[in-house]
Amino acid sequence: MSGLPAASVAETAQVFAGVVGPTLAGGVIKRRPRVLTVLEKLQADASAVRTLQKLRAEHGDGLLRLAVPGRSFALVLSPDDVGRVLAESPEPFTPANLEKKAALSQFQPHGVLISDGRDRDRRREWNERALETSRPTHHLAPSVAAKAAEEFATLGPGPLGWDAFAPVWWRMVRRIVFGDHARDDQVTTDLLGRLRRAANWSYLLPRRRRSREEFLGRVRSLLARAPSDGLAGGLGAGEDVAAQIGHWLFAFDAAGMVTFRTLALLATHPAQRQQARQDIASGDGLGYLRACVLDTVRLWPTTPAILRDTTKELDWNGHRVPSGTGLLVFTPLFHRDDSRLPYAHSFVPEIWLDGRAQREPALVPFSAGPAGCPAKNLVLFTVSTVLAALIRDRDYTVDSSPKPAPGRPLPMTFDNFSVRLTGHP
Ligand code: HEM
Repeated sequence: MSGLPAASVAETAQVFAGVVGPTLAGGVIKRRPRVLTVLEKLQADASAVRTLQKLRAEHGDGLLRLAVPGRSFALVLSPDDVGRVLAESPEPFTPANLEKKAALSQFQPHGVLISDGRDRDRRREWNERALETSRPTHHLAPSVAAKAAEEFATLGPGPLGWDAFAPVWWRMVRRIVFGDHARDDQVTTDLLGRLRRAANWSYLLPRRRRSREEFLGRVRSLLARAPSDGLAGGLGAGEDVAAQIGHWLFAFDAAGMVTFRTLALLATHPAQRQQARQDIASGDGLGYLRACVLDTVRLWPTTPAILRDTTKELDWNGHRVPSGTGLLVFTPLFHRDDSRLPYAHSFVPEIWLDGRAQREPALVPFSAGPAGCPAKNLVLFTVSTVLAALIRDRDYTVDSSPKPAPGRPLPMTFDNFSVRLTGHP
């Protein structure tokens, strides 16, 4: 068995400058709004994808080892390999990858995403039970819908930027996760924000033990009082539970960004908006709005870097992959692959309804396989319900630039923080 094909030092430097660097600069665990404004101006994801496409043309689409001193690390470049890596997680491809562990242990030291072996199995099962992964609709859906409707009814017509949207979003999230007593507990959300900003630096910053204890203590006390109409009701208030909830709160941030971007797409795409309104009027489960949300995450994935580490030595099409090799799936390379997908740069919710997306193993907005997002159905329900409340009787326009438009390639980098909308009465 030979080793993996390898990128040169110069090519590795290009990957760091064009792909890894901008992703890290934008904030992997907590987005940095000011940096994102710059990345959007530069359309950083477009050059990241070009860099990887060039490497693929040069070396083929097998795993490509990078010249990283002291660490075996490779890029995943073919859709079928993405499918294999995700289907065969957590063994032999563990999501508890070295770099991810260093970052996430800032605020969720016992989180499932950074757990191995039996701990992972137990925590995964716990998450699947609490989030009702296998059910299309969570049994608390009526309560989620009521809380979403109540909170978003407070947003009147007029200008709507991220600064006005986010507080409403977080009041709703705290009510959904913990219950109504947590509605105004912005302090807990802010504490998590601080820890996540530290987590952006992965192992370059020491653990913020005091803030972490304060955050987890507040979560435990909210959990202890959680009523049965909150997701966390009846789940206990132990340390392990608090860590899982830390991940949930973190991940609801991504869902808010997706909601805002989808609203911008619906504001600028009349055909899809009309279809979505018919969907709402039919009262038939918001299937089209869910597809809109999926396509927004395809266009702008909130986890652009899916990381895995191999747990044993592998034979990969005749090449030896050492145990402990880090693997990077950079999803925009696949989600925006215009050499394969005629719809790569357009808003096409239909692909999630007619089977086209499901035939592509590397269209993975919520990851896939046994370590895929266990909250996918809950998120699609929550986000589509919020969008329904917003667009049911109100038109929005986008006043900021870049302004998405049908018939024009959508921007590769789309900064949700600087989108400005206006809601018309
Ligand atoms: C738009 C919103 C969301 C998107 C796009 C999303 C996407 C993802 C992705 C891509 C992963 C895999 C990450 C990796 O392998 O590195 C993941 C994992 C996970 N997500 Fe989500 N997620 C979202 C919201 C949520 C929410 C709101 C929750 C909880 C309430 C949640 C719970 C989890 C958990 C527990 C995992 C870890 C699964 C494991 O390692 O087995 N996610 N999510």
